[in-house]
Amino acid sequence: MTQGPRLVMLGKQGAGKGTQAARLAEHYRIVHLSTGDLFRAAASAGTRFGLEAKAYMDRGELVPDDVTVGLVEERFTAHGSPLQGGFVLDGFPRNRNQAVELDRVLDGLPLDLAIDLDVPRDVVLERLAGRRVCSRCSAVYHVDMPPSRPWICDVCGGDVVQRDDDTEEAISRRLEVYEEETVPVLDYYRRLGKLAVADGVGTGDDVFERLVKVIDDWRSSSPASANP
Ligand code: AP5
Repeated sequence: MTQGPRLVMLGKQGAGKGTQAARLAEHYRIVHLSTGDLFRAAASAGTRFGLEAKAYMDRGELVPDDVTVGLVEERFTAHGSPLQGGFVLDGFPRNRNQAVELDRVLDGLPLDLAIDLDVPRDVVLERLAGRRVCSRCSAVYHVDMPPSRPWICDVCGGDVVQRDDDTEEAISRRLEVYEEETVPVLDYYRRLGKLAVADGVGTGDDVFERLVKVIDDWRSSSPASANP
């Protein structure tokens, strides 16, 4: 049976990982798993775990690895997990230890590609300042690309709001953490021959077309990945 691709999206905060991962999931009919969305859902449900995670998120720090890896592992090992059919991970792994743990969780199932969505710092700062998200389904908007009715989500009708961690202070800390913790993940996948870099500047459609080309080219040159 042909499987969907198994992908990791990497890139600075605000590079467009969430925006593009949602489109790729729809295009390839694979599961989109965002650790940030899972943490935000737990926080808005008011669970103890969610509120603890929120404290890290609001400061722009990573949530501790044991919690994050446990959350991802739970999704992968759940009975009849749809992740076996292909997935795009958005926001995970975010440090080298999480990358090693992902290999363990995948238990021999090869990852196809890690894609670094490359966007310069000044562009991500502008994108994050204008970002708005649906508080119910996490759909992503921007003040320059708003929903059709003022601040009501086009997808589910939820309220579209600014994220609590899109403050100047937290954004600056998140970008520091990216350089310290996540840049080594790029090296990790580069050494494994699984890193592709895609230019993340341009319209959402331009970037999406580039990503699909990178993924399809990779899959056609590695037929084993389409039929493991
Ligand atoms: P997470 O939710 O993953 O946030 P992030 O990494 O900070 O990434 P962003 O969501 O900010 O950016 P994005 O690249 O998805 O951009 P987007 O598509 O929204 O994580 C939040 C927190 O959770 C972390 O700080 C941490 O505390 C915790 N966490 C999560 N994962 C963790 C892990 N593995 N380990 C430990 N802790 C973890 O786009 C941004 C804006 O740009 C939007 O407004 C969008 O509309 C706009 N835009 C997108 N594409 C374009 C384009 N082509 N042109 C113009 N505008 C565009």
